[in-house]
Amino acid sequence: MARVAVGPQESASASRRWWDADADDYQAEHGEFLGDDDFVWCPERLREADARLLGDPSTLVGARVLEVGCGAAACSRWLKRRGALPVALDLSGGMLRQAALASVRTGITVPLVQAGAEWLPFSDASFDLACSAFGAVPFVAEPARVMSEIARVLRPGGRWVFSVNHPMRWMFSDDPGPDGLKVAQSYFDRSPYVEVDADGVPGYVEHHRTMGDRIRDIVGAGLELVDVVEPEWPEDLTATWGQWSPLRGDLFPGTAIFCCRKPS
Ligand SMILES: C[S@@+](CC[C@H](N)C(=O)[O-])C[C@H]1O[C@@H](n2cnc3c(N)ncnc32)[C@H](O)[C@@H]1O
Repeated sequence: MARVAVGPQESASASRRWWDADADDYQAEHGEFLGDDDFVWCPERLREADARLLGDPSTLVGARVLEVGCGAAACSRWLKRRGALPVALDLSGGMLRQAALASVRTGITVPLVQAGAEWLPFSDASFDLACSAFGAVPFVAEPARVMSEIARVLRPGGRWVFSVNHPMRWMFSDDPGPDGLKVAQSYFDRSPYVEVDADGVPGYVEHHRTMGDRIRDIVGAGLELVDVVEPEWPEDLTATWGQWSPLRGDLFPGTAIFCCRKPS
């Protein structure tokens, strides 16, 4: 592990390599929790069916939706079942291969696009909604660029809802147990978390932003921040997911979901 500066291109290359290599393992580990055509926002198991952060279900019918950092695209298939017209985008061909396999399993096909969230290959105002469950945003060096790209491809009045690690989690080590309750680093330290290989080449890269940074990126892109949802840990959820656990979930938030709107 290293805390070194990683530029936008280097970060994107590292992410692509990492997620390509990890795609099968990620799906094997988390596929059951995520489902093949379910929309789960976070390890706290908040579902779009209950939360309705994208709006009333009736408004999904015919809506053009961009899912960013889709992984196996379970959210897009859930949206398609509700009459939406989703496009699922991811940087990683390995993750999109998992999406294609899940389409075969379910018989629900959605268009898959391989691209970085920082450079969206779509025309202006081509979507009514955009969403992301832990996709892309925590992994890019310039999240402000992602916010601007989303603002560009949304139509006026369109919504953008995305979940990320709650910024305050940064202070703690990624340990689901008692060691993960101790402050280990500064909330204000923005140097990225980087796992490097034996040759010093970055593999997994995650970029921290404070709550203020995230809001500034959203507002700076010309979007309105409508709500920030901090899901609480459900009493009946006993499973851990990496650093997420009932122990930590009882004490502080693990996920922040930002609900934004492009002004009409
Ligand atoms: C934690 S996974 C989440 C996947 C899926 N949304 C889910 O809920 O399981 C993060 C995803 O973001 C994708 N990703 C990382 N950096 C990206 C980027 N710059 N642009 C688009 N996708 C990216 C990864 O390939 C991976 O599929």
